[in-house]
Amino acid sequence: MPAIALEDEFGDIIGKARAGRGKSLSAVAAESGVSEADLRALESYERPPSEDEANAIAEAVGLDGPRLYAIATESWAPDEEPALVDPAADVIRLQNFVGGYPVFCYILVCRKTRSAAVVDTAADPDKVLQAVKSAGLKPQAILLTHGHADHVEGVEQVQKTLGVPVVLSEDMGVPAGVGEHFKLGEGDTYRIGDLDVRMLKTPGHSEGCCTFVTGGVAIMGDLIFAGSMGKPNYSFEASMSSVEKLFELPDSTRLYPGHGPSTTIGEEKAHNPFLA
Ligand SMILES: [Fe+2]
Repeated sequence: MPAIALEDEFGDIIGKARAGRGKSLSAVAAESGVSEADLRALESYERPPSEDEANAIAEAVGLDGPRLYAIATESWAPDEEPALVDPAADVIRLQNFVGGYPVFCYILVCRKTRSAAVVDTAADPDKVLQAVKSAGLKPQAILLTHGHADHVEGVEQVQKTLGVPVVLSEDMGVPAGVGEHFKLGEGDTYRIGDLDVRMLKTPGHSEGCCTFVTGGVAIMGDLIFAGSMGKPNYSFEASMSSVEKLFELPDSTRLYPGHGPSTTIGEEKAHNPFLA
């Protein structure tokens, strides 16, 4: 099992799938044969499901039953991150807690030049600045995956201290306090040392969500989590299309979500109950 727990439990996953498919509790109860009271208890993690319940609910909300049950019984988690993910890039992960919930900032580092980009701030500018300094990095930019407060709060302080531009999707609003910034279109690249970092638009969790890709690394905010998906606040269909696009990358690509352990495209293709 990874050192970092999965972001979503059984209850979160079935709740997101039900909302994504636009189904009420009563509709899922009628289709699955699991009572509304039991569904409510399961969505709020009051008890684990039986295998039959997991399969029946999965069928009603468009999930893969065996994959869902494997997560409910904690019998699947993605493999630990290897020491070397990509020959050219390192990824430093910083964890912060916002309202009691863990959120990640990543620092993407060009191994050869030690140039670096801060990807999201995880609402803890002091921790980010300390990490950049103590690793002796040469900061070049702040990349933003999306505009939610737990990911971008503190960006003004980080930008002012590091004196670097903010880079974001052209579909995302510029957060308050941001000065110099560059908006990227689909597939545009931004250079960090010797790394070409490509921006892919991956809307769904929010309209302006994007993923930054370089070599075997993809930092993707809250599009998917290991074994689940980010809440599709903008559009469930858009989230699914974004996943399809992202999953054209090689299966070995390591995915870094805003919450929960890192995973790979191959792991998610094989185990994510939304993606059967
Ligand atoms: Fe978010």
